[in-house]
Amino acid sequence: MFRSALSTAQRRCFSISAQQNSKVTVLGAAGGIGQPLSLLLKLNPRVTELALYDIRGGPGVAADISHVNTKSKVTGYNSGPEGLKAALEGAEIVLIPAGVPRKPGMTRDDLFNTNASIVRDLAKAAADHAPNANILVIANPVNSTVPITAEVFKSKGVYNPKRLFGVTTLDVVRASRFISELKGTNPANEEVTVIGGHSGVTIVPLLSQSNHPDISGEARNILVNRIQFGGDEVVKAKDGAGSATLSMAYAGSRMADALLRAAAGEKGVIEPTFVQSPLYADKKCDFFSSKVELGPEGVKTIHPIGKLNDYEKGLLAPALEDLAKNIAKASLTPNSIL
Ligand code: NAD
Ligand code: LMR
Repeated sequence: MFRSALSTAQRRCFSISAQQNSKVTVLGAAGGIGQPLSLLLKLNPRVTELALYDIRGGPGVAADISHVNTKSKVTGYNSGPEGLKAALEGAEIVLIPAGVPRKPGMTRDDLFNTNASIVRDLAKAAADHAPNANILVIANPVNSTVPITAEVFKSKGVYNPKRLFGVTTLDVVRASRFISELKGTNPANEEVTVIGGHSGVTIVPLLSQSNHPDISGEARNILVNRIQFGGDEVVKAKDGAGSATLSMAYAGSRMADALLRAAAGEKGVIEPTFVQSPLYADKKCDFFSSKVELGPEGVKTIHPIGKLNDYEKGLLAPALEDLAKNIAKASLTPNSIL
């Protein structure tokens, strides 16, 4: 009787939560990304506790989201070390969208001065209170904020490269959508690997490995440029009111869900993501985004990038050059950063 009164989704929710106990924390939860991201996480039956922290508005967003009738418990925290500590303790996943977004005319690197210290301080708190959590850095410039987070965790003696991720999922989401628009296909069937970093020319889509290796000439130039500069498209359209928030929330929740599924023992969970990587360490790129298989330990296997055609090799060379500079920027200033 009880069973038949439940929807399939609710039954799934009960059975998953019986297996897993997963606290997910969002730092910057009241922002443009933070709010829809928190809502999507509230809809995820694998999340059993959702902790929302922001320097302003955390408890309000939490009260609002807590009325959604899914099973997870939602808590909101005010600014300050006590709130931050409580939000982080026991977290399995910590997402960090806290930071300033771009305005038209700015590069992501222009956000470095403001966001580096925000991410540094939140990373310090995460290293103290959730040293074993998977840390998902969304705040830009990702190419630099991820290495900064690594430095902070190292300085606290708790760095585990398998648990630190720069969220580059939005590039993959865009690539899938844009190629489907070009080819008139269903984006659900379009998977495009995107490697490198998360800004401009460091974003390298591998169309030769997609369903459409035939795309060439001007059509390819236009598509690749749109994938590399998709963020600018949104910044321009928002006209001073920020950058991508809704598509980013979707991408962030997809990445968190992938980690939760992998933690629950699902095999073959693969997402491109920006991690400490041996692939181009010889080019001074100790962090690199490529297809990564996830497991209960976080990073399970970093896949090789596979065969590139000459066009893609031509994209990769400047990408590595820029990426190396972005990564070096994080460690060049250890005293002021740490
Ligand atoms: P936003 O200004 O709308 O929200 C940022 C939130 O962070 C605000 O609520 C603010 O109060 C909060 N915040 C600031 N300092 C904080 C601190 N020390 N502790 C806790 N919270 C703090 O900005 P947004 O549109 O949500 O973008 C956030 C960041 O995400 C930006 O840096 C943006 O460039 C980046 N972003 C990354 C991607 C990606 O693909 N990785 C995509 C889109 C945006
Ligand atoms: C994006 O790709 O949309 C984000 O990195 C935000 C931005 O500044 O473009």
